[in-house]
Amino acid sequence: MLCMMKPWVVVCLCACLVCARAELRSPVVLAKNTTSQVVLVTGATGRTGSLLYNALKAQGVDVRGLVRNATKARERLRCNKCDPSEGIFVGDITQPADLTAPMVGVDKLVILTSSYPLQYPNGTWYYAPGGSPKEVDFEGQNNQVIAALKAGAKQALLVSSMGTTEPDSYLDLLGNGHVSFYKLNAEASLMGSGMPFTIIKPSGLVDDSGNQRRLLVGHNDDLVPSQMMTVPRADVARTLLHAVTLEEEHSAGLRFDLSSDPAGPATEDFAALFKEARSWGGQTRPSGRGKHSGARCISFHIASHAFVPWCARCNTEGVYHDATACPLADEECTAKRVERAREADELAGEFHALYDGEDDQRFAR
Ligand SMILES: NC(=O)c1ccc[n+]([C@@H]2O[C@H](COP(=O)([O-])OP(=O)(O)OC[C@H]3O[C@@H](n4cnc5c(N)ncnc54)[C@H](OP(=O)(O)O)[C@@H]3O)[C@@H](O)[C@H]2O)c1
Repeated sequence: MLCMMKPWVVVCLCACLVCARAELRSPVVLAKNTTSQVVLVTGATGRTGSLLYNALKAQGVDVRGLVRNATKARERLRCNKCDPSEGIFVGDITQPADLTAPMVGVDKLVILTSSYPLQYPNGTWYYAPGGSPKEVDFEGQNNQVIAALKAGAKQALLVSSMGTTEPDSYLDLLGNGHVSFYKLNAEASLMGSGMPFTIIKPSGLVDDSGNQRRLLVGHNDDLVPSQMMTVPRADVARTLLHAVTLEEEHSAGLRFDLSSDPAGPATEDFAALFKEARSWGGQTRPSGRGKHSGARCISFHIASHAFVPWCARCNTEGVYHDATACPLADEECTAKRVERAREADELAGEFHALYDGEDDQRFAR
């Protein structure tokens, strides 16, 4: 099945699985235009979130962090009390009430919260209760946008993901979470909110050093996959840093894919990068399909042909993604979705088996 997956998806999946402990390893090169604005980073104890939070702090920006755990914040964000007096707010984005206090007076919101798939030792995938893509990436994100709108924020910046043009992709099916579907819907919600937005859709995230690679921008998953498509979290953080600190006109109204060329040279001019993203000037490939990497590829068929694509696109209310009715009764559709999820989990188990020699611990967060 790896053969059937887009290379960057494989990297993305691997990156999801590795518990990164090197968040601060890659220093972010700072933008020059520091302003007096108040910036709230949610998911601030996350891997990209902590890089951005610390970089904004280092630049003297009045930055706040929304975190779930003050102890983790102390470790990653170098706070002492790790409370509102230091701009650290403990809260859960699925609880709208938790978002009121951190949003007061915020000019820019950077959304770096995300759901996260977990894996049982047998290789099957699941999301923790309350941590599904629907709850976190869609509803939790909408809560943030609504709170930011109420607070009068001027811009919301979101890190989503590449791969949302491919229905029922491997990532989408993990744990039956439909993460790409919900992330795409969350993008649409933000774009329709009336708030100036910047949406960055990275390829597979890695923890390599930032400021080494040439950053590539594109649209609709059309970047040329010359090799495994990855981008360091540190470079995503740099891109966000510049989007936040440059004048709004550079990045507002932009939604683009972000990847990188390890051969460099390192991207320095982010105003030019945003301009390129605005002009849809990235490289394109007509086929819409990338070459797979031969590495670790074992030839077996993805069972997706056995799936029921139209059914998977129905929600639990029996409605298609495009809001038309599903052709099967709800129960039949649900039954098929359950079956489909089981098959997807079995495939996940096979995927897991490919990583022979890998410690199961590595797959736990
Ligand atoms: N992995 C990839 O290859 C890949 C590829 C493309 C795009 N992306 C996307 O890029 C973004 C950044 O990825 P990352 O790996 O840096 O993220 P990450 O380390 O997984 O961080 C996610 C953050 O969200 C927080 N969070 C989750 N649920 C929450 C809730 N209910 N309330 C408050 N906070 C919550 C987590 O809090 P805790 O710190 O308390 O856990 C964590 O700080 C994500 O949107 C991800 O989906 C990833």
